[in-house]
Amino acid sequence: NQVPLEMHKVRMVQKLSLLPVDERLKRIQAAGNNTFLLQNKDVYMDMLTDSGVNAMSDQQFAASFIADDSYAGSATFLRVKKAIKDVFGTDNVLPCHQGRAAENILAEAYVTEGKVAFMNFHFTTTKAHVTRKGGSVEELVDPKGLLPQSNDPFKGNYNLENLRQRIDAVGADNVAFVRVEAGTNLIGGQPVSLENMLAVTDICHEKGVRSVLDASLLQDNIYFMKTREARCKYMEVGDIYRLLADHFDIIYFSARKLSFSKGGIITSKDPKFTKEMMSFIPLYEGFLTYGGIDVRTMESMAVGLYESLDMEYISQGPEFINYLCKELDDYGVPVILPAGGLGCHLNAGAFVPDMPHNQYPAAAVAAALYIAGGVRGMERGTMSEQREPDGTERYAELELMRLAVPRRVFTLSQIKYCADRVKWLWDNRELIGGLEWTEEPEVLRFFFGRMKEI
Ligand code: F0G
Repeated sequence: NQVPLEMHKVRMVQKLSLLPVDERLKRIQAAGNNTFLLQNKDVYMDMLTDSGVNAMSDQQFAASFIADDSYAGSATFLRVKKAIKDVFGTDNVLPCHQGRAAENILAEAYVTEGKVAFMNFHFTTTKAHVTRKGGSVEELVDPKGLLPQSNDPFKGNYNLENLRQRIDAVGADNVAFVRVEAGTNLIGGQPVSLENMLAVTDICHEKGVRSVLDASLLQDNIYFMKTREARCKYMEVGDIYRLLADHFDIIYFSARKLSFSKGGIITSKDPKFTKEMMSFIPLYEGFLTYGGIDVRTMESMAVGLYESLDMEYISQGPEFINYLCKELDDYGVPVILPAGGLGCHLNAGAFVPDMPHNQYPAAAVAAALYIAGGVRGMERGTMSEQREPDGTERYAELELMRLAVPRRVFTLSQIKYCADRVKWLWDNRELIGGLEWTEEPEVLRFFFGRMKEI
């Protein structure tokens, strides 16, 4: 297994603790078997998410000390705008407090009763915002993307023929937008090719519907474009960002992932789109020059955006994830392949193949791994779905247990420890039992729902 090399050194550390196994059992039971409800002090490796927990650089911290605090017209916001202009080439920038806030603004501006939002794949918060406004989500990822293991380098690609047909069938006027999630979160951080993204925007222009890029995981996606797509090999990273911004009507992202800070951004080349959304920013987020983000964070975001042009930065996540996936795959543990961005995804459906969807196999594996090693992953399967309007359970296409790899946070020995614990659990998988709800919230139930062993 090729060893990934850290292109940074550690200059500040945070103490961790590793509780004994009987304590871990008590803590996960007290958390209703939901890893979201564990306390971080009880976790050895926090692999819940890559969101807001990436390591910042010395330059990002340094920049945060020169922030310009003011309600309106802060110089800090001008630096964010300049960074967006330099990276994406766009002039129109709306700040918001994080990715789902951008999704709320998009839904407010473009989703009304009966409208359809097309996506290669939905994300939990994106879908919740669309359905809250009476719209619906249709997923048009190429079915090849749902195979747990294949050699396909871009399993997040749209099925273009389906996209054309569905826009025609629904009627362009009824389409809220066509959204490309670059680095599909719920199907294993799988990337979308540049060719596919440009084809999607061509179809949108031809049919007269809005195109939206969710760029939250774009830096991982760009790493895969550079390493897996011939036409990108000799392009500068910045050329790819700008090409995308030339073609998509609207780009939004969670800066908790892209740029390694916090906050969120909506940007567009054509001011028409930001004008349509602008009035919702002071309503929900804050004034147009801070949008709910504090100025120190905005300074870090600006620096982080420039840093995300550097392959030595953006390769760290995917290379560590690849190492972990390969360790597990070589041992026979079912993981999603090829390795994607964001994290290593265990195929819980194959980990506990006899467990039915309605016993939440991915949640069961997540709880078991915490007991086995103090490693906190996240359920990304049926528990993360929302029920259909008639209350029936919607079974996830893939039952995944995600081990996010926050960028530049863990050392290789910690990654090896994680692999060791997963291998142990695989060898002892007959110990894993199913779960049932004791408290099931109506909205985004996976965040704070509670379960018990059956
Ligand atoms: N879009 C994608 C593709 C995401 O992965 C996320 C967040 C969001 C939008 C929402 O951004 O958290 O800033 O509001 N994903 C995180 C995760 C939460 O752990 O998967 P946010």
